Amino acid sequence: MFSFFKRNKTDKLRIFDFFNQTIVTDIHSHLLPGIDDGSPDMETSLMLIGEFQELGFQKLITTPHIRMEVYPNTPNIIKGKLSEVQSQINGIQIDASAEYYIDDNYTQLLEEDHLISLAGSKYLLAEYPMIAPLLNYEERIFEMTKRGYTPVIAHPERYRYWHQNPEVFERLKNLGCLLQLNILAVEGYYGADIKKIALHLLKNNLYDLIGTDVHHDRHIQRIKKLSGMSKEMNLLENYSFQNKALFGI
Ligand SMILES: [Fe+2]
Repeated sequence: MFSFFKRNKTDKLRIFDFFNQTIVTDIHSHLLPGIDDGSPDMETSLMLIGEFQELGFQKLITTPHIRMEVYPNTPNIIKGKLSEVQSQINGIQIDASAEYYIDDNYTQLLEEDHLISLAGSKYLLAEYPMIAPLLNYEERIFEMTKRGYTPVIAHPERYRYWHQNPEVFERLKNLGCLLQLNILAVEGYYGADIKKIALHLLKNNLYDLIGTDVHHDRHIQRIKKLSGMSKEMNLLENYSFQNKALFGI
């Protein structure tokens, strides 16, 4: 009994230190109330932000979806919700950007330069469709890079249509993208096939950034489970993620 509690205490400290000292800033989550499929209301937002503090994060750049036909968020909507949240929290920094769904509407936003980048930087968090690949995915990247933006491709491991062509991930890097791992993929939350690709990309040093992509408390609980998964934690702790260098406090 004693050793059970002792192990749990050590495990909790392990993921806390990883987030608190090594990662510092989460760059992907859905914590603003009522504007996407993440937190539905302020009470939930505050609860989730409290959980992030307990996990060890010092700073959050939360990223509501912008996908015109489903989540028609604008920089003004996002900044308004961010201010409401900021007025009610202490002890952790919170900023907001967006997770852009790459489609024709996105190209229009890009042409109008009506975008909200990560912490006012040149980095844009972008997601591709889950079901089928965009035929012109390379052109979409060129559209961003020629305007001086660096696309951060959200959770590349989740695009199953690329699993049989892992050279695509290197191609994305060569085109100037950064790749962002969803930590939940390493825990196994999205399935064994996605975990396998995530571990492959980690072992081949293809990721640049890590994010939680937390939408709700079930995600937080699964992230906590990683503390007890020593093989996966070893991989994460020994990897050189750029969160702190690019977006730290
Ligand atoms: Fe997301």
